[in-house]
Amino acid sequence: MITKLVLQNFRNLKKESFQFSSNLTFIIAPNAAGKTNILEAIFMLSTGKSFKARIEEECINYDTEIARIIGNSNLEIVLTRGFLDIGKSVPSRVARKKLTINKISKRLIDFAGNLKVVLFAPHDLDLVTDAPTLRRKFLDTVISQVDREYRRAILSYDKGLRQRNRLLFRIREENVSRSHLLFWNQLLIKNGNYITDQRQKFIDFVNNTDFKLNINTNYKLEYDRSAISEGRLEQYKNEEIASATTLVGPHRDDFLFKLEEKDLSAYGSRAEQRMGVLWLKLAELSFIERETSEIPVLLLDDIFSELDHPHRKVVMDVIKNYQTIITAADPHFVEEFKSKKNLQSSGKHILSLRDKIQIINL
Ligand SMILES: Nc1ncnc2c1ncn2[C@@H]1O[C@H](COP(=O)(O)OP(=O)(O)OP(=O)(O)O)[C@@H](O)[C@H]1O
Ligand SMILES: [Mg+2]
Repeated sequence: MITKLVLQNFRNLKKESFQFSSNLTFIIAPNAAGKTNILEAIFMLSTGKSFKARIEEECINYDTEIARIIGNSNLEIVLTRGFLDIGKSVPSRVARKKLTINKISKRLIDFAGNLKVVLFAPHDLDLVTDAPTLRRKFLDTVISQVDREYRRAILSYDKGLRQRNRLLFRIREENVSRSHLLFWNQLLIKNGNYITDQRQKFIDFVNNTDFKLNINTNYKLEYDRSAISEGRLEQYKNEEIASATTLVGPHRDDFLFKLEEKDLSAYGSRAEQRMGVLWLKLAELSFIERETSEIPVLLLDDIFSELDHPHRKVVMDVIKNYQTIITAADPHFVEEFKSKKNLQSSGKHILSLRDKIQIINL
């Protein structure tokens, strides 16, 4: 649950404080007012990472050197550009990102997962057809929220992968002995197998979840795994050295959406593809609930304008079970929503009406 959010110099939001309902909150504001930025900040409190910044320095307001996100008065993230001018002749070096819980500094793997969220944003609607990177990122975001060991394995694997690729390059260019590969092989195999197993477990869960919804749920995921083992690394050894790239392992994983046994990216209509994503998002919610016995916060970023009527109905039915924060640009959306949900009688509480951002807690 997120009840309170304080932002300082986070993107265009210089000094803001928000209170959220335990049920449903609307964030209504025109385009470019900062709606997605608010959800980005909440997502960062959950995962320790941004879903949109390539480098997190992008999240610091143009005019300042330091940004701060505080959630529920115990979670805090401070972002800097790597140095701060604190009145000395040269700026002092500082950490680019500091994560704390109750003022105690935490590593990313210990900070992440304290607040559970599921974000559903327009970019998710391309999950079926987009590049594999996006699908791997999806898997990592979900599983990382529920499994500290997975967070550790991912960090260790990524670091090992960079080192191993550098070594492959040196073997090719500088004739460094191939025996040095052994250490990195072991590290990648150990972490890689853990990552693959957990991804398989998630995909099995999704495929076996039975939704009682008014949509076609004959979807399946098919895990296209790139297994990593001594044998596979041996098999690709020469190609790996020639290209100075590790060619097998979970960094090459992918998964396919299938509808009635057919590849959804190749054969599905646009609506069927969107429905598939919605189906997966619902499975993500159930997975987090089952694994952690906690109810995640649902963040919907202007998603209703992207969905047609049957999809909207599915989402509306689901949100009553979760603390939900919905952004929208069109203020009429709230009235339409309330009338559909027979919420006319419940009061509309505008808790903050500043600049252009309206927060409506129901
Ligand atoms: N580091 C930054 N410093 C200042 N402003 C920034 C920074 N990064 C992004 N912005 C600005 O934040 C503004 C709001 O972005 P955001 O995506 O949150 O808007 P939005 O309300 O979601 O709009 P839309 O309805 O179009 O989705 C943009 O105009 C963008 O230029
Ligand atoms: Mg937006």
